[in-house]
Amino acid sequence: MSFSHKKLYVIFPAAGSGTRMKSDKNKLLMEVGSIPVIDRTLTAFRKFADESGIELHSILVVSPGKTEEWASYIKDRDYASIVDTITEGGDTRTKSVGNGVSSLSDPDFPVPGPDDAVFIHDAARCLIDSDSLLRCLEAISDDGTDVCVSGVKTKNTIKMVKSGTTFVESTPDRDLLYEVQTPQCFKYSVLKECYERAQTDGFEATDDTALAEHYGYKVRIIEGSYSNIKITTPEDIVIAEALLKNMQ
Ligand code: CTP
Ligand code: MG
Repeated sequence: MSFSHKKLYVIFPAAGSGTRMKSDKNKLLMEVGSIPVIDRTLTAFRKFADESGIELHSILVVSPGKTEEWASYIKDRDYASIVDTITEGGDTRTKSVGNGVSSLSDPDFPVPGPDDAVFIHDAARCLIDSDSLLRCLEAISDDGTDVCVSGVKTKNTIKMVKSGTTFVESTPDRDLLYEVQTPQCFKYSVLKECYERAQTDGFEATDDTALAEHYGYKVRIIEGSYSNIKITTPEDIVIAEALLKNMQ
């Protein structure tokens, strides 16, 4: 393994309302192959940290009013060694991640150094694999990249329509199109600057590295994995279980 970092910091946004899952149950507590989504996500990161001998510190960002419930969940299942802080999210993903970024400088959190790698990883992407995490960490550590995002080449042809219509405006070259995932990874100094500026400007985006693009940073796409799906709709549980069988 060729990265120089001894510590890895992760913000796990977990404060969504799971609207598209159409279930009364929090989608992060739904089971994939008999294990809840959130447990799979946390375990994948713990496995990566153990394998690579890196110290893992993380912040779990949860729905307002649910901090204590989640604190017991984390404690009961022995994740307290990797989840240092549980903080409340906001009504958009950018706000939730922004709260996570603010918590990185809490006095009771082991504050990252300016060049340390901070990953943002959707709690709902429970099939994340160690190889994808390693590729991102290596990029941030050793080749001067400030910001990177996991992505895979799109398998489909994508059409762009004229705004507000269903008329096609263009067909972008598929070879230039990537679907991005999480982890999305930043040097801490860049992450802090981007989220502070976004808060001041009221800038929102559905992906974190879009903030870095907006503020003029170069963002690299790092090869992700087609298995790293986000549990979003009920079909994703079925797909994730099929993928799991293939991964074991
Ligand atoms: N998320 C968050 N805060 C929000 C919205 C989303 O922390 N205000 C988190 C979710 O918990 C999830 C990740 O961001 O882990 C990706 O979001 P998504 O899959 O869209 O989850 P939800 O927003 O919960 O689902 P939906 O959009 O269907 O309501
Ligand atoms: Mg959402």
